[in-house]
Amino acid sequence: MLCPAVHEIMFFLFGLLFLGHNMSDKNVTTVLIWLWPFGKTYDPSLCSSLFNIDGCFITADRKHYIKSDGVVIHHRDISPDLSNLPPFKQPSFQKWIWMNFESPSHLSQLPGIENLFNLTLNYRQDADIEVPYGSIVAAEGEEDFVPPSKNKLICWIIHAYGQAFGKYTSDQDYFPTIASYDITEKLYNPLSVGTVPVVLGPSRKNYENFISRDSFIHVDDFSSPKELADYLLLLDKNEEMYLRYFEWRQHFKVKKAYFWAEHTCLACDYLRRHKEYKAFNSLDKWYWGG
Ligand SMILES: *[C@@H]1O[C@H](CO)[C@@H](O)[C@H](O)[C@H]1NC(C)=O
Ligand SMILES: *[C@@H]1O[C@H](CO)[C@@H](O)[C@H](O)[C@H]1NC(C)=O
Repeated sequence: MLCPAVHEIMFFLFGLLFLGHNMSDKNVTTVLIWLWPFGKTYDPSLCSSLFNIDGCFITADRKHYIKSDGVVIHHRDISPDLSNLPPFKQPSFQKWIWMNFESPSHLSQLPGIENLFNLTLNYRQDADIEVPYGSIVAAEGEEDFVPPSKNKLICWIIHAYGQAFGKYTSDQDYFPTIASYDITEKLYNPLSVGTVPVVLGPSRKNYENFISRDSFIHVDDFSSPKELADYLLLLDKNEEMYLRYFEWRQHFKVKKAYFWAEHTCLACDYLRRHKEYKAFNSLDKWYWGG
């Protein structure tokens, strides 16, 4: 009778394996991407290598739902009748994370979502998990930045703000931010490649909370469109004046958010550091003002 011994050893080894699995899982935070943002997949496993965030298992495989510490749900991909939200009971430890990077004016309000979520993941500075579109960070080294000389063009950023944002204009601090993906891309992209954005909408002071005061042209600095146009033409001819818009690059550079891998890694990082109970019951009021 050889079998029982072998069987026992096998059983023992299997047990070890199982135990080992459990132990290594103990300090891992699982985040489930319920819907790929805009239906596009990305590599979610870069937390450690790109962002120095360890202990995260980020997946879009719904079989992990029941053990997920957080479920990230992208607003734009929720259907209007909420039929594609998780149909299962929310485990008591699990947090649902509302993720959105559209401005309220570009985003439909969905009835029924105001009391569903635990955390917000957004560009706003008062979001639980705040991810700005970009930021100005210290440049390493003394590398001189030379703007592309050929296309000395001025990049226009035009956006009719107003409307939905009107109600926020007093909450100036909420605005890294500016409006939609497009618009903010249109701010940080030209800044990073070396063109001068011409901006309007939020006040100059507000922009200056996020980007250097001499890196952009604000429409409000001029009393008429004609005056602005004249200034742009002058700038086009005057190299020295133009180059002043790039002096900030001696010490700083643009860091853009890494969509969407950074967002889900930061969600995981937040969950690891905040195990406490949290519900968010005023999503509509917070984002759309009512
Ligand atoms: C789990 O990870 C956190 C954050 O990385 C760390 O502070 C903590 O000490 C770890 N706990 C255990 C039991 O290893
Ligand atoms: C998450 O929010 C829901 C809805 O408000 C609440 O029922 C649940 O207890 C919260 N869970 C955690 C872990 O905070």
